[in-house]
Amino acid sequence: MDFTNWNLEQALDSFQQKLAACDDHESWQALRLSYLGKKQGLITGMLLAMRDLPKERKPLVGKQVNQLKQAVEQALKDSPHAEARSLRKSSLDVTLPGIRPKCGTLHPLTITRHRLIDFFRSYGYDVGEGPEIETTYYNFEALNTPESHPAREEADTFYIDDDRLLRTQTSGVQIRYMESHQPPLRMIAPGKVFRRDDDITHSPMFHQLEGLVVGPDITFGHLKGMLQAFARHLFGPNTVIRLRPSFFPFTEPSAEMDVSCPFCESGCRVCKQTRWIEILGCGMVDPNVFEHVGYDPEAVSGFAFGMGIERIAMLSLGIPDIRLFYQNDRRFLDQFRGA
Ligand code: DAH
Repeated sequence: MDFTNWNLEQALDSFQQKLAACDDHESWQALRLSYLGKKQGLITGMLLAMRDLPKERKPLVGKQVNQLKQAVEQALKDSPHAEARSLRKSSLDVTLPGIRPKCGTLHPLTITRHRLIDFFRSYGYDVGEGPEIETTYYNFEALNTPESHPAREEADTFYIDDDRLLRTQTSGVQIRYMESHQPPLRMIAPGKVFRRDDDITHSPMFHQLEGLVVGPDITFGHLKGMLQAFARHLFGPNTVIRLRPSFFPFTEPSAEMDVSCPFCESGCRVCKQTRWIEILGCGMVDPNVFEHVGYDPEAVSGFAFGMGIERIAMLSLGIPDIRLFYQNDRRFLDQFRGA
């Protein structure tokens, strides 16, 4: 190297610019090697090249190169990228235990819906869906519910206009499903329903799960066996069921099902000392319903059932008040973690 045009200030300036361009430890390291590296370092090279200088120039150039070296070393040391991570300089204590982020949980209604779906899926049921804004045809008419039926009254139903409403039951999904499928079939339809009700045990929005099985020789015995298996799965192997005659427009005969109280053996507050708790409505599909979807009632028969998911969740998880489901109080929800 020829030091004729060499100038300390310029060399320092150029180094400072390169240092300022470093934005991490890797680029800092590369810069350090390019100046001070034992083999390829610029300054190392200068020190070597000085050997060939005439004697009288050596003292001045030597002094300048040494000044450069010291300035470079100091600037490198002061750089914020001098250490891989400036752990020692910061007050971060990496040995402290972490703060666990607060995690959500599945809502008890979701847990219950999953349990119900899993159970019925294991018996080969398909899961059907329908709209929450429904027509009077699917919510009532096709379900054999005549215009004069009290369920149609505005006092119970949120009407949008003469033909549309917020569905009051998931039973209408049966109709939609049968319209697009041929028997034999097994389906359930979980979903939101709406009614003009609001008190301690009723919410204007709640969830139902509908079930429907249609085939050539489906009997009431099949319905009973299915419901018994379902009750034992949800409330324990010793659960007993009871079917009481009832009325629903879309089933004939119809029944309501009670389960033996899961909380007591001799009467308690939940079963109102009766030892039985009503949990669903069911029956054999009315031939009029089959006619609406174009099935031949002479060739097929079927059973249907419908239950409130809130009620099942309250009984199987021991929840005393329906309003707890909708308040989103974390102290309540956290109790079902892993349930
Ligand atoms: N849809 C009825 C309700 O909301 C429940 C129900 C009863 C559904 C009997 C059915 C059934 O499928 O067969 O109260």
